[in-house]
Amino acid sequence: ETGMIVLGIETSCDETAAAVVLRAPEGQGRILSSVVLSQDAHAIYGGVVPELAARAHVDRLDDVIATALDEAGLDLAGVDAIAATAGPGLIGGVLVGLTTAKALAMATGKPLVAVNHLEAHALTARLTDGIAFPYLLLLVSGGHTQIVRVDGVGRYRRLGTTIDDALGEAFDKTAKLLDLGYPGGPAVEAAAAKGDPGRIPLPRPMIGRPTPDFSFSGLKTAIRQEAERRAPLSPADVADLCAAFQSSICAVIADRVRLALGLFRDSAPGIDPVLVVAGGVAANRAIAARLAETTAKAGARLVVPPPVLCTDNGAMVAWAGAERLALGLSDDLDVAARARWPL
Ligand code: KG4
Ligand code: ZN
Repeated sequence: ETGMIVLGIETSCDETAAAVVLRAPEGQGRILSSVVLSQDAHAIYGGVVPELAARAHVDRLDDVIATALDEAGLDLAGVDAIAATAGPGLIGGVLVGLTTAKALAMATGKPLVAVNHLEAHALTARLTDGIAFPYLLLLVSGGHTQIVRVDGVGRYRRLGTTIDDALGEAFDKTAKLLDLGYPGGPAVEAAAAKGDPGRIPLPRPMIGRPTPDFSFSGLKTAIRQEAERRAPLSPADVADLCAAFQSSICAVIADRVRLALGLFRDSAPGIDPVLVVAGGVAANRAIAARLAETTAKAGARLVVPPPVLCTDNGAMVAWAGAERLALGLSDDLDVAARARWPL
């Protein structure tokens, strides 16, 4: 097959992942294999424990890479380049993946691409839906909440961000407070589906602010106060609190995205706006449904990659690597891992 075949490695949080992606000369992408091992050792701590995560990556990454190559029907010789997340993330885990990628690149003489994890989330919609630049990106994950104008590979303009907690973090903290376990997003979504969003009113922070920023810590405090006031909580209380939380989040996101779409239109006149949603929280169906409504009303197109490509995975890293390689970009073997690395 013609095109470029890239092995991608992701170890920046609690997923040990590797994938093989093909990028055709005309720019279409195809996933040849994708293996994601989610670490379950963190559940009892109610959050990711960095040292445990790094050790688990060490234990499992070699197998995960071998399986990804095997499922793609390739060995390392059939791969054109090796890409790995080089940050931002938990530095121990990032080092495991990046160092492994360096070793593979050195052993094979193939190019290494050090990928920004946020860029990998940002470019996923080009792999799944082949969309063109520029587009508006809502990145909502456990560590990040941003609205970004994506003008090209490596060309990002941040329009808004959170001034405190990330959205996924707000879901996780809500779940912890209500004893729903970790990761919290799916648990809160499931509980919310059984609840009444109108019984316990919660604040809707930042609605109406002139820049598309977010804030979730006040919402977290409000939930804690409501939970303490009603303790011990009945299953109905938990469901209603989750429903109210999710409905408040949906209202806030709709308002912030409406504003950002307006800013996008002003800055790129004549271009039909496309909103891409990325990051783990994009797997939330209530949020996706509200975004569909908001974008339809604004005359914009909405692109939400499938949930397995919204949460952390190796395919997005391989794809970001392929996009960079197609522009002639690769990295030296002494490239550093970075705990912090803004887009
Ligand atoms: O992108 P991701 O896999 O890892 C990071 O880079 O952070 O995102 C993980 C985050 C977690 O906070 C998780 O609770 C959240 O995404 N999440 C969800 C859902 N599925 C995952 N949040 C809300 N609803 C969901 N269905
Ligand atoms: Zn992520």
